Amino acid sequence: MRTIKLPNSSNRVCAPIMLIAMLFVVSPATAADAADAEHGKKLYTGKCGGCHDTRVHTRPNRIVHTYDDLVNRVRFCDTNAKTNFTDKDILDVSEYLNNEFYKFLKIDS
Ligand code: HEC
Repeated sequence: MRTIKLPNSSNRVCAPIMLIAMLFVVSPATAADAADAEHGKKLYTGKCGGCHDTRVHTRPNRIVHTYDDLVNRVRFCDTNAKTNFTDKDILDVSEYLNNEFYKFLKIDS
């Protein structure tokens, strides 16, 4: 009896194409989730004045020593300053301050 294996053979062709397609679907989403330092800069410049300027980030005895410290401190100051940043805003501001002043290596854990 002769069988036609159409679904199987088409799967074999489709699988790699699907994988490649998935990569394209995944990468723009990742890019959109990445912290946006430009947005962070706007937030910081517009909303974080009053108590300190950026010199606080380069002072010799600064209190932030790791990227985690930085994110925690931004969160702390956001609460005190009542700026109501979202979690994404906090990461954006941290990204901006890190790129501009702290230059910590980020280790994804
Ligand atoms: C209500 C006053 C106030 C406002 C507004 C404020 N901060 Fe701060 N911030 C402080 C003080 C005070 C310190 C220093 C704390 C210390 O020296 O122990 C500080 C320190 C920091 C540091 C750590 C500096 C270091 O030593 O490395 C970061 C980062 C920071 N602020 C971010 C922000 C961000 C982001 C905003 C806007 C959401 C903001 N701050 C708004 C009071 C404020």
